[in-house]
Amino acid sequence: MINMLSREDLQNILEEGKTAIERASSLRELDQVRIEYLGKKGRLTSVLKTLGQLPPEERKEVGRVANEVRQKLEVDILARQDELSRAEKAERLIAETVDITLPGRQSVFGNRHLIAQVINEITDIFIGLGYKVAEGPEVELDYYNFKALNTPADHPARSLQDTFYIKKESVQPADDDILLRTHTSPVQIRVMKSQQPPVYIIAPGRAYRRDVPDPTHSPMFHQVEGLAVDEGITFGDLKGTLEEFTKQLFGRERQVRMLAREGFIEQPPENDQRIRLRPHFFPFTEPSAEVDVRCIACGGVGCRICGGGWLEILGAGMVDPNVLIEVGYDPERVSGFAFGMGVERIAMLMYGVPDIRMFVDNDMRFISQF
Ligand code: PHE
Repeated sequence: MINMLSREDLQNILEEGKTAIERASSLRELDQVRIEYLGKKGRLTSVLKTLGQLPPEERKEVGRVANEVRQKLEVDILARQDELSRAEKAERLIAETVDITLPGRQSVFGNRHLIAQVINEITDIFIGLGYKVAEGPEVELDYYNFKALNTPADHPARSLQDTFYIKKESVQPADDDILLRTHTSPVQIRVMKSQQPPVYIIAPGRAYRRDVPDPTHSPMFHQVEGLAVDEGITFGDLKGTLEEFTKQLFGRERQVRMLAREGFIEQPPENDQRIRLRPHFFPFTEPSAEVDVRCIACGGVGCRICGGGWLEILGAGMVDPNVLIEVGYDPERVSGFAFGMGVERIAMLMYGVPDIRMFVDNDMRFISQF
């Protein structure tokens, strides 16, 4: 009786198991079915546990059938597993389909600000001439910004340069008044006080003046300062250095050299960029000059940008002996020249920027053009 029941039970288990396997619609469901039938507490296992209660002669037969059932179910499960995993993979592939005909997502790339580009260009030219880059603080002492630069308390230049003060105790200027530097010239003093000649440095950086913003004025702007101090430096050296610099920055030299290198033209034509020096005054240089380049828009004929064919781009002069003495140099032994240029002005001329305020408006349509 028991063995008949067991055989029937086994048959039922097989039938129901097959149906359950067939119905399983995912690998997870199929695994549930496997546990339900073949697991430790599964239906087939429970039947096998009762095997011991059978008379010995039937045990063998029922055991054989039970094993057959297990094998059949296992085979079915494997087959269904295969089917289901194929189906699931196909589904995933469809879900993950990439439409390669869609336009790509645009990456937004940043670019260097035009002012930074022009500073790099200027600096590179002087590095090529053997200069080193120097820096100084934007928050500066009166001493470095004015006094050490031969600009005494009552000097008219102090009233000309309207200064942002951070700490100022009296109307009378004091060495320890704290201000935003009005030019990059204080870097000259800091460099000379920290090293002995020869000095060949270029100092790019920000400067501040209390100007009301308009198309050509900004309370914050950039300058590049230059300083050369050595034995036997003459005004001729200053002129030659600035001429070479302007040829490289404004002349066709670089573009044309590149064309020659690439084999587009045989011989670079002569670089006809020239400079003009006009007498001027700065407290820290003597003699001093303002330096013009031939207009880069019209080539010197005269146009709406330059007026008379020349563009003023920098101030320069021979370092005043008083400045050399102040930093502890011997003006009988060494001499030097210095120059300072406004980066915004140069960038405006080179790239036709009509308003200095555009450099700080942060309008991406402007910034990303260069
Ligand atoms: N510091 C001067 C200015 O801001 C420029 C300058 C620098 C002139 C060095 C002469 C020598 O106008």
